[in-house]
Amino acid sequence: MLVTGKDILVPAREGKYGVPAFNTNNMEITQAIIHTAEKLEAPVMVQMSEGAIKYGGQDLANIVIDMARRATIPVALHLDHGSSYESALKAISMGFTSVMIDASHHDFEENVRETKRVVEAAHAMGISVEAELGRLGGIEEHVVVDEKDAFLTDPEEAVKFIDETGVDYLAIAIGTSHGAYKGKGRPYIDHDRIEKIAGLTTIPLVAHGSSGVPQTITDRFRAAGGEIGEAAGIADEDLTRAVQHGIAKVNVDTDLRLAASVGVREAFQANPKEFDPRKWMGPARDVMSEIVAHKLQVLGAAGKA
Ligand code: G3H
Ligand code: 13P
Ligand code: ZN
Repeated sequence: MLVTGKDILVPAREGKYGVPAFNTNNMEITQAIIHTAEKLEAPVMVQMSEGAIKYGGQDLANIVIDMARRATIPVALHLDHGSSYESALKAISMGFTSVMIDASHHDFEENVRETKRVVEAAHAMGISVEAELGRLGGIEEHVVVDEKDAFLTDPEEAVKFIDETGVDYLAIAIGTSHGAYKGKGRPYIDHDRIEKIAGLTTIPLVAHGSSGVPQTITDRFRAAGGEIGEAAGIADEDLTRAVQHGIAKVNVDTDLRLAASVGVREAFQANPKEFDPRKWMGPARDVMSEIVAHKLQVLGAAGKA
């Protein structure tokens, strides 16, 4: 069933489990996400960035909405990193049930103003809203507190931000970052900060940049002719811990991108004469499904639908 983000995330925060929000750009990605979640009886969020809207438009949104309506589990369609009020409203008019307004690059007051505008309009239509406070970026464990404080989310500011905006869930900067290169070795996650913020708030918290970039996948990518540097993702144990402390929405895109590329590369490598798209998009969907299943299990969403 198609539900709002709040319908999925409030029980997740209360029940101390995480729900992955996977980015989609086509039918096969959407199938891997929703059908795997159905198999594991897990709630799930499907998100489209502004780039995905440009690429797939209403056609892609309709695929997600239709699949979500027919699904045996709760599914929300979420706008990822909405850059403006207009963008958030456009997504709502397309049928999205959750939107993010990302004004985190502005100063605190401007971030509050932009977020509040979106919250007022979205709430009037029954749609829930995510905002972001702090700057996403990898940090080294030994980095001094002052430096961490400069861009990671400040707990007191988070409380003020939530109070002033009425936002439904808040993305916080805790050491994660977007993409396949999150740092050298295991990226440092500021668990104390998550605990502090969670202790002062009750709304679901969101972690962006949470792909695991598993070595099995990067090894397969290389073995099938792909080139990738010193990739690193967020360890499963860090996600399990973060979820225990109040993170309820966990954003994953890079892992599905890598998985899809592995499926396609391996299929062509095994049979260079193949040109039936189902024979290479199908394997891509299979490898993505493995990633989706793993994340649903690690975050504890499996069995929660
Ligand atoms: O955080 C961003 C997501 O990975 C979406 O990326 O804007 O290239 O679709 P995109
Ligand atoms: P990854 O790059 O770690 O997959 O993060 C995706 C994300 O945060 C989308 O908003
Ligand atoms: Zn993100």
